[in-house]
Amino acid sequence: MKDKSGFDLLSDDKIKSVIKTELLAQKIYAFWSVGSTNEFAYSRAVQGESEGTLVIAEQQSKGRGRKLHNWDSPFNKGLWFSLILRPEVPAARAGLVPYLAGISVAEAVETYTGLKPAVKWPNDLLLSGRKFCGILSEVEFENSKIKFIVLGIGINVNHKKEEFPEEFREMATSLRIERDARLDRADFLAEVLLRIENNYNDLKQNGFKNIINRWKKRCPQLGKKVTIVQNDEKYQGIFEDLNDEGCLMLRTNEGELKKIVAGDLIF
Ligand code: BTN
Repeated sequence: MKDKSGFDLLSDDKIKSVIKTELLAQKIYAFWSVGSTNEFAYSRAVQGESEGTLVIAEQQSKGRGRKLHNWDSPFNKGLWFSLILRPEVPAARAGLVPYLAGISVAEAVETYTGLKPAVKWPNDLLLSGRKFCGILSEVEFENSKIKFIVLGIGINVNHKKEEFPEEFREMATSLRIERDARLDRADFLAEVLLRIENNYNDLKQNGFKNIINRWKKRCPQLGKKVTIVQNDEKYQGIFEDLNDEGCLMLRTNEGELKKIVAGDLIF
C-alpha cells in the first residue's frame, strides 16, 4: 500500500502494524536515508541500546559490504536493515550468527514466495546463481565475551534488472526479478524478522547445531570442489564441512584439512 508520498514507505508505524515478533523490532529507528544502518546501530549499541532494536532505511548513502566494499542500497527498492543482538554465546561462536541470519532470510523467502534460495559461503544468498542478499555482522567484544553484535542484512527486493548498476547486472538479482512480481516489503520484513527470532530462540535452547545443519542443506557447494581466494592466495580442494566456529574446512588436493576463516569462494 502506498502512503501520501506515493511510495510504500517502511515507517515505524507501518512496521509495528505488521510484525509478529516479541523481541525483535520492539524499538525501531526508520530512516528515509542514512549513511549505513550498521554504522548507526553500532553507535547506538555502544550507548547501551536494547537487544532487538531494528535500524532500517529506505536508502543508504554509504551502505557497507564485506571487505570494505560498498553495498548498493537504492531508495525504496530493498530491505536495508540492522539488528542489535546481545547473544550469550562464547566469543568464538560470534562468527556463526550470520549463518543464522542467512537461513532465516532463505526460509522467509521460501515461505513468502515459494522460491528456494541457496547459500554461498560465507554469507551470501543466491537465486538462479545470482546474489540477492548479503549479510554483514559487526561484533564488539568485552573481556573475551560478546558485548553486542550488529547484524546487517541487505535484501534486493523490488529492483528491476535495469535498476542495478551495470557492473552488477549479471551477478545480482532481486526477488521481483525471480518471482516476476513486486513484493510487499513490510509483510516480507515481518516474515524475515519472525524467522530470525525463532531461529535465535532455537540457538538459545539448542546451540548452533540445527542452524548449521540447515545452512549446510542449502549449500550446493558442500562436498564439491571449490577455490577459495584469500587476499593474494588461492586454495583448491573439496568443501568438506563447516567447523563449530563457522570456518570452512577444505580438503586440499594434497589431502590436508585446512581451516579457512575468511575469503571468497569460487565454484
Ligand atoms: C555483503 O557484502 O555481502 C554484505 C552486505 C551487507 C549489506 C547490509 S544493508 C544493511 C546493513 N547496513 C550496511 O551498511 N550494510 C548492511
